[in-house]
Amino acid sequence: MATVPSLAATVHQRVSDALSAALPEAASADPLLRRSDRADFQANGMLALAKQLKGNPRELAAKVTEALPAHDENAVIANIEVSGPGFLNISVADKAIMENLVARQRDERLGVPYKDDPGTTVIDYSQPNVAKEMHVGHLRSTVIGDAIVHLLEHRGEKVIRRHHIGDWGTNFGMLIQYLIEHPHELDHESDTAGAKDAGEAAMARLNRLYKSSRALFDSDEDFKSRARDRVPALQGGDPETLALWHKIVDESKTYFQGVYDQLDVEIRDPDIVGESAYNDDLQQVVKDLEESGVAVRSEGALCVFFEDVKGPDGTPTPLIVQKSNGGFGYAATDLAAIRNRIGELKADTLLYVVDARQSLHFRMVFETAQRAGWLPEGAARQLPFGTVLGKDGKPFKTREGETVRLVDLLDEAVERAAAVVREKADESVGEDEIQQRAQQVGIGAVKYADLSNSMTRDYVFDLDRMVSLQGDTSVYLQYAYARVNSIFRKAGELEPVPRPELELAPAERALALHLDAFGDTLVTAADEYEPHKVTAYLYELATLYSRFFENCPVLKADTREQTENRLFLCDLTAKVLHQGLALLGIRTPERL
Ligand code: ARG
Repeated sequence: MATVPSLAATVHQRVSDALSAALPEAASADPLLRRSDRADFQANGMLALAKQLKGNPRELAAKVTEALPAHDENAVIANIEVSGPGFLNISVADKAIMENLVARQRDERLGVPYKDDPGTTVIDYSQPNVAKEMHVGHLRSTVIGDAIVHLLEHRGEKVIRRHHIGDWGTNFGMLIQYLIEHPHELDHESDTAGAKDAGEAAMARLNRLYKSSRALFDSDEDFKSRARDRVPALQGGDPETLALWHKIVDESKTYFQGVYDQLDVEIRDPDIVGESAYNDDLQQVVKDLEESGVAVRSEGALCVFFEDVKGPDGTPTPLIVQKSNGGFGYAATDLAAIRNRIGELKADTLLYVVDARQSLHFRMVFETAQRAGWLPEGAARQLPFGTVLGKDGKPFKTREGETVRLVDLLDEAVERAAAVVREKADESVGEDEIQQRAQQVGIGAVKYADLSNSMTRDYVFDLDRMVSLQGDTSVYLQYAYARVNSIFRKAGELEPVPRPELELAPAERALALHLDAFGDTLVTAADEYEPHKVTAYLYELATLYSRFFENCPVLKADTREQTENRLFLCDLTAKVLHQGLALLGIRTPERL
């Protein structure tokens, strides 16, 4: 394993060194290096610096240029010139580019660095609710959370996953009471084969239970009060009540796993630590908050108040930790979870991948935990995401105004993908193969669309666009990957061999420099929790690859050396596409 600094990083360092040699008083100034079309890189930092020092930017830039050669060991910089009002245009040597790529290709991590100071992050994501269907909001949390887990782990961070499922609360009183009175409600004949079918069957039973118990609850006052009395029995740990509760939770987990299976994400049972897990800590949370004065009794409820959180009429809106009837809610559980994650799991960072509509809740919960001394300042962070919209621009619903079932949506994505795949595939490809590719294309498309939008923005769920071969889609990237493979199938005995002595054509340079930026991209995406930086990078990579492919014949290049060198670029492109997409949870079929 060897970390390979990018050429951008090396050039940045060289220019910084030259800058401080030329102007010791500006030793810590940032040269502001960017990729550029005119040269390989452009440094704009001299402008601001000259302004600050009341000097002439072109003269300053010239001084830096003079100081450079002395600092440029291994001849990375091939050319540097002052341009415009005082920019530096910098080109790097072809040989330096190729040598960097060779070092990447030799390393199984492609030269991407580990974090210097890895810590422990607890990430709260994919938290559906028991006895309910999963919807597009849960899709976002699952897909984004899964990508962030991979990105952080890839950086060497210790990541603990927590699926804070909604498995507790007053609703369960109704469901359990109904089961006590109708013991066969969840019975079924035999287990269905396959996670997906088993999951759907389980959800169907839960839906039936929910509907029947709800109907009785709404129409029969006696049942309603028996259902209410069931809640303290659950919270108090009555064995019969708990056993039935377990049955309901297990049915739901069967359903969740079916969806996860279809979505091709790995969710492990021990990481499913739902709201119920904190039940025993809630009394202590309340006691500590009340004794320390962080929370106060108001009209019987235990509340935490905030200067800046007020309702429309100006009265403060508190965070309610315990209701006046003694019941605990969502907030109490989240506070107990923070104590567990910081205190027991020893997390340095807490992340919450949750809908932006819950931002106020988290702000109040974090602030409360800080006041109580349970949470260091800045250690917790919500990664809020926007709403999934229908084509009408309104929150995604069925025509009847109901929440869209995630499974239906995924099925449809795979079906559309099958059409695209069938169209591309030649006759020799069998139906099984088509279905398998369609699965990887359809699910990839849904994930990619979700990740490629900046997280906080709402986005329109448009399957036609998602599975399109054109544009910023995973299919386009998967297609680029498949195309590289097809070159290798045709290459015969020709092998990828880097030839650093060759001069690079413009389309080769552009591709090569972009390949070299993979590590820098992963570092920023992980450190800033922004998977969409990876999608943007990969899209650009596929675009540059197709430009290279059009302009630079690979198997029919002028010389054998050139073919070998181009095959090397193809090979590295495939590796980067594969690793990048894998980190996002997206598969790369060998053929499309
Ligand atoms: N179950 C909740 C929902 O479906 C999300 C839970 C978010 N996580 C948390 N720690 N509160 O909206």
